[in-house]
Amino acid sequence: MNMTTQSIEVRKLPAALGAEVRGVDLREDLSDETFAQILRAWYDNLVILLRDQDLSEDQQWQFGSRFGPLAGGHIPELEGSREGIAYVSNVRKDGKLIGILPDGEMQFHSDQSYREQPSQGSMLHAITIPRVGGNTLFLNCYAAYETLPQDVKDRLKGLRALHVYDYNLNPTQRARTIAPDAPTQLQPVVRLHPVTGRRALYVSRLITAYIEGMPQQESDDLLGMLFDHMEQPRFTYEHVWKTGDVLMWDNRCTLHARTDFDPSETRLLRRITLKGEPAIAG
Ligand code: OGA
Ligand code: MN
Repeated sequence: MNMTTQSIEVRKLPAALGAEVRGVDLREDLSDETFAQILRAWYDNLVILLRDQDLSEDQQWQFGSRFGPLAGGHIPELEGSREGIAYVSNVRKDGKLIGILPDGEMQFHSDQSYREQPSQGSMLHAITIPRVGGNTLFLNCYAAYETLPQDVKDRLKGLRALHVYDYNLNPTQRARTIAPDAPTQLQPVVRLHPVTGRRALYVSRLITAYIEGMPQQESDDLLGMLFDHMEQPRFTYEHVWKTGDVLMWDNRCTLHARTDFDPSETRLLRRITLKGEPAIAG
């Protein structure tokens, strides 16, 4: 086995979150020391980016599995060859989609927040990218929480909200009504990160429907105010993909969204989804 300790460099991106990790070839079997540095960069920066990688499904699975066990999706026929691998793509074979989340703009969300054990983190490896658009935006939920006025923070204490994933209607834009078979889960509005101990806002425009026990208008107003606050450019990073990018985000303290792109262009990324644990109220 070829174990390498690579000398890595972590460079913060010029944005509210994210860092580029340089000097690592993810096809190598990384030493524990190198992996620990990557993990630290992830916790410190919420999103890590490694450019110019060229990973097979198996190599990406090996690297993703260093972070913990992986989680399958809810559309078995769109799983890759191993549980926890899927393709985000608009490619069709014999008229059938080969991947998930094929087309268009996607609102801010945290992966699987509609599950009791939502995913800890997800990783995308860019294989084919449209010439323009299909960028992925990331949002720093620690910063979004920390910058709230004290009276709003006080108001959020102990609140829970219902998260709904309505994939029958449209997995990328908010549904107006909740389908009876849509998966739902109550989640704390403020989430404590189990590793960093920091508090993060844990609501999103795509998935959070209402605040438990609150009159609808009041809940709509409060959530609308939180979404508008969170989605300010000062809390975000917009990633313009290049072939070979490997990018990993922490679903416990970030949201992500996608910009529109020309549906006649091919977009193909390979995704790894980490399992998670129940959210801790903050
Ligand atoms: C995802 C996702 C965004 C994108 O894979 O969970 O939201 O840019 N993808 O395709
Ligand atoms: Mn997502």
